Amino acid sequence: MILVVLFQLYGLLLGVFGDDTVPVMEGDSLTLHTNTKTKQQEKIKWFFDHTRIAQINGDLSFICADVQCEDGDERFRNRLKLDHQTGSLTITNTTFTDEGDYQLQIIGSSSNSVKIFNIIVHDASTADSEEKKSKSVKEGESVTLNCQIKNPNDVKWYFNDLVIAEITGDQSKTCRGVRCEDGDERFRDRLKLDHQNGSLTIINTKSTDAGVYKLQINSSSFSIQRNHSISIISEESFSVTDWTLYLCVAIGILVAIVLMLIGLKGWRRRRSNHRQNYV
Ligand SMILES: *[C@@H]1O[C@H](CO)[C@@H](O)[C@H](O)[C@H]1NC(C)=O
Ligand SMILES: *[C@@H]1O[C@H](CO)[C@@H](O)[C@H](O)[C@H]1NC(C)=O
Ligand SMILES: *[C@@H]1O[C@H](CO)[C@@H](O)[C@H](O)[C@H]1NC(C)=O
Ligand SMILES: *[C@@H]1O[C@H](CO)[C@@H](O)[C@H](O)[C@H]1NC(C)=O
Repeated sequence: MILVVLFQLYGLLLGVFGDDTVPVMEGDSLTLHTNTKTKQQEKIKWFFDHTRIAQINGDLSFICADVQCEDGDERFRNRLKLDHQTGSLTITNTTFTDEGDYQLQIIGSSSNSVKIFNIIVHDASTADSEEKKSKSVKEGESVTLNCQIKNPNDVKWYFNDLVIAEITGDQSKTCRGVRCEDGDERFRDRLKLDHQNGSLTIINTKSTDAGVYKLQINSSSFSIQRNHSISIISEESFSVTDWTLYLCVAIGILVAIVLMLIGLKGWRRRRSNHRQNYV
């Protein structure tokens, strides 16, 4: 009874916010936002699995991340970054062992708050081909680059550091291809953007479409960065392989004929030798 009351009081004091579910794919870079600026008397602490994995004090008197924190966790070695202005936590190259609840504690002089982020990591290697982050397509075919965030309101697709497609909360600013600010002529009329899940489809692919497509997903509580890589199997490389195949077959037939002729000659000679012996 006392425990329950204490627990409720503790909850009130801490001001627990709602949970956030964050879906990432293996290898993504993920930032969990604090939505605050670090203040002098404040401490921002991040916990995973009841282990403190990062902390920043507002006066910068103490900062630690992954193995630098005394109960530091090897699994995050060199993969955690803290923003010194906001205390936001970035996890690079996410992996399965990162899956779980992350607790953010903001400890101020007058009030404290706690927030939980639930991270789910999807497997990029065993996922069906729709989900794969690197794909090969035949020139001329279309390819879909997956986003799979439901009703995204801030999604940007980059190619060569140019924005080629974008969804924003403001419908009028949503764009693709040449209509984007740094609109790229190469994709003219060849991009389709799914407004329900942010996935991008390139139709009638060309050899110049090969490369890395960067996806940036932002929401108020997190951001995700993901790279998709596309390779294009061009018609030319097809004809080259066909051509070498034909050449190999032709050489093979030629060699077979030569061997047959040599064999036939030897057989005739042996036969004539036989005859001479009998005569
Ligand atoms: C994406 O690729 C760029 C280099 O092309 C790299 O700098 C960046 O870290 C990669 N991001 C992710 C999330 O893998
Ligand atoms: C990401 O992590 C995997 C193992 O989980 C490792 O093989 C790979 O090299 C890492 N990539 C980068 C860019 O650090
Ligand atoms: C979502 O993305 C997939 C491709 O990843 C696509 O096939 C599908 O049509 C998209 N739209 C919806 C509403 O699910
Ligand atoms: C969204 O992403 C861009 C690019 O990384 C960044 O500059 C911007 O601050 C982000 N917005 C939010 C709301 O996180």
